[in-house]
Amino acid sequence: MDSRGGFTSRIGFILAAAGSAVGLGNIWKFPYETGQNGGAAFLVIYLALTFLLCYPVMVGEIAIGRKAGLDAYGSYNKLGGKRWGYLGLYGIICGIMILSFYNVVAGWAFGYFLEISFSDLLEEQNYGVYFGRYVVDFWDNLIFSLCFMVITAFIVIKGVQKGIERASKIMMPTLFVILVALIIYSITLPNAMDGIRFYLLPDFSEITLETLYSAMGQAFFSLSLGMGALITYGSYVSKNQNVLKSAATITLLDISVAFLAGLLIFPLVFSQGQSPEQGPALVFVVLPGIFQTMGPVLGKIVGGGFFLLLCFAALTSTISLLEVPVAYFVDEKKIPRKISVWTLATLVFILGLPSMLSQGAVGAFSSLSFYQEKSTLDFVSEVFSDISLPLGGCLMTFFIATRWGTHKMSEELSQGNPNYKGSFYEGYINFTIRYICPVLLGIFSLLIIIDKFFGLEQLR
Ligand code: PHE
Repeated sequence: MDSRGGFTSRIGFILAAAGSAVGLGNIWKFPYETGQNGGAAFLVIYLALTFLLCYPVMVGEIAIGRKAGLDAYGSYNKLGGKRWGYLGLYGIICGIMILSFYNVVAGWAFGYFLEISFSDLLEEQNYGVYFGRYVVDFWDNLIFSLCFMVITAFIVIKGVQKGIERASKIMMPTLFVILVALIIYSITLPNAMDGIRFYLLPDFSEITLETLYSAMGQAFFSLSLGMGALITYGSYVSKNQNVLKSAATITLLDISVAFLAGLLIFPLVFSQGQSPEQGPALVFVVLPGIFQTMGPVLGKIVGGGFFLLLCFAALTSTISLLEVPVAYFVDEKKIPRKISVWTLATLVFILGLPSMLSQGAVGAFSSLSFYQEKSTLDFVSEVFSDISLPLGGCLMTFFIATRWGTHKMSEELSQGNPNYKGSFYEGYINFTIRYICPVLLGIFSLLIIIDKFFGLEQLR
């Protein structure tokens, strides 16, 4: 019997992988990145990069996982030898570090859900001030993010099929519906059209080098690429599934949710006379305003519902982030799933404490002298996602191009898709993975590292 488990249906895999992709990256990070990077121009670049570069990377990752049928380390090791295994370990470390700060932000969302539903958050006057106060409260943050980690751990213990698949099936569709309903409401508010213009009418003179690599980092983060999450999930996929089609569905779902989140946030930002450039606080400052206008009862229901769904979206992502190192310990070290999960969850939680305390609670964590006086949360998020994920994607495509071979990938991909070989898609995927991705992602990664650590002012 196959004790690793697997997804029971095509839709199960798609929902779980889309659940991994759709999360805080779409609803929290995408709007503030777009707001900070010039609005519509960022959106256009982000979409172009997603279709041209990220889709082939996703197909490649799933193919590696399904072929090898192992965790990220084991998969590279099996297909490429021990040295390539380190690339899997690199992904596992990124996963642990991303989860460490992601869980903190998820804790904020969980706290907002509770405060809106069961307390008087919607009676506040100034949500900017409120958020500032909120994130320095150590005990609240500690308890909320601890809850989040414990829930994640429980689901991951249940394993892929029972826990992950079932959870995603219910949460994803509900999120979609509530987003659309809120958008319809928000675009009727005064000045909403200014927001729509900012979001949808591109001004390409705004584009800088930073816009480009921010869009790249955002696309990788949002699609859960570059660290082996989809290798791990791919390892649970059956051979009769059409990977190309599944990857297309996952990409489209992810983009749609991000796009809708922007369509919700920017009309609100402008109708409330706020700045789109507030960074990570953006959705937490802007969204309560719309719920407040709905009156005390409806506001609590819709606002509480929204943040609850945001928590669900984050949960399907934290599950996938934790599953990556867990699969490694289960597959490679033969450590029982339960022990792996609790050990890793504890480790990740502890690693997240500096990020949690970096929003003003502890000065030393809040302003890092070696990193442009930014917070630890910014540091961990920029180093382990904005920089490391595109770099991971570069190395992954380099692995396929030079070690595993695109012909072997084609063979894998034609299982479940008999017409694949010789098709236009094959040509496109192979060409992108062999030439475009390694080179372009390599250049991007280098530029972002130089810029973040040494400053590339002249290129801005
Ligand atoms: N894609 C997730 C989100 O958008 C975050 C994530 C990144 C999950 C990397 C897994 C791996 O919220």
